[in-house]
Amino acid sequence: MRTTDGSVVLGLYRSGHPRDVLEAAADLGVAHLDTASNYLRHRSHEVLKTQAGDLLPNFAISTKVGYFPGEHSLDPARLRAGVERAAKELGREPDAVLLHNPEHSQPDAEMLAQACAVLAGAAQAGLCGGWGVSSWDPRPLVDLDAPCPDVLMVRSGLLVGVDVLEAAEAIVTRWRPSQVWGMSPFGGSANEAVWGKFDPRIFLRDALSATRVQAAFRSACGLPRVDAVAVGTDNVEHLRELVGALAYEVDDQVVQEYRQLLQARRQPV
Ligand SMILES: NC(=O)c1ccc[n+]([C@@H]2O[C@H](COP(=O)([O-])OP(=O)(O)OC[C@H]3O[C@@H](n4cnc5c(N)ncnc54)[C@H](OP(=O)(O)O)[C@@H]3O)[C@@H](O)[C@H]2O)c1
Repeated sequence: MRTTDGSVVLGLYRSGHPRDVLEAAADLGVAHLDTASNYLRHRSHEVLKTQAGDLLPNFAISTKVGYFPGEHSLDPARLRAGVERAAKELGREPDAVLLHNPEHSQPDAEMLAQACAVLAGAAQAGLCGGWGVSSWDPRPLVDLDAPCPDVLMVRSGLLVGVDVLEAAEAIVTRWRPSQVWGMSPFGGSANEAVWGKFDPRIFLRDALSATRVQAAFRSACGLPRVDAVAVGTDNVEHLRELVGALAYEVDDQVVQEYRQLLQARRQPV
């Protein structure tokens, strides 16, 4: 699952999995799809296979296990069965399987280590290409170990609070993943009022022709620093706009100054 500088991972969390968007993604050179066993009411894998099976060879696919109908669980047997089911439903082994928000099960060190060992074992057995962890809120995980996952996925972008940002960076340092991916660069919606309140283009170098959406998306590569960003859209023109954003460079100096502002505003505990 190697990605290149800031590449787009098309995330399917909010998606109806429309075929035109998957076709456009392949045409635009988007090389990764990110899904999860529970997306599309637990039908994402099956729908991808039945409605877009011919397009899937264009993509590396990451999926996630941990949300089972009705509950979150890190039970080793259920995780292993979840990986096997993902491969069956997709009609091929996923390129990576990630633990989905393990913090929801409030794991201690042993529970998390066992869950990671299940996924690492599944990758070794050829049930998936690699393994990793995806965490919406990594703060409860900072003192635990998940040694050297292939992928660590964390929230990224201008809406991520300083505590979550720093927790993500702490587990990057501690776990030493091969790849770090950002997720949810718009916090789930590019239409929220917050996006009208400032101009994210200040985070780019030479941003004259960039749109605000492109600048917000591109900034998510630097907060924290990630190799790729999982972003959702069911709109072909929006996807084209996101891919176009890769032409712009994040201004590290501005990111640095923004980090200092975030730190200065930290609430005393
Ligand atoms: N814990 C986890 O594992 C976890 C949690 C959250 C997210 N994720 C991953 O991250 C991916 C993205 O997260 P997300 O969907 O929550 O949030 P997001 O990517 O921040 O926001 C998605 C929304 O942004 C809009 N959008 C995208 N490009 C746009 C553009 N060019 N112009 C206007 N609007 C645009 C989309 O609307 P349109 O459809 O109208 O374009 C969509 O509703 C997920 O699909 C998933 O792969 C993982």
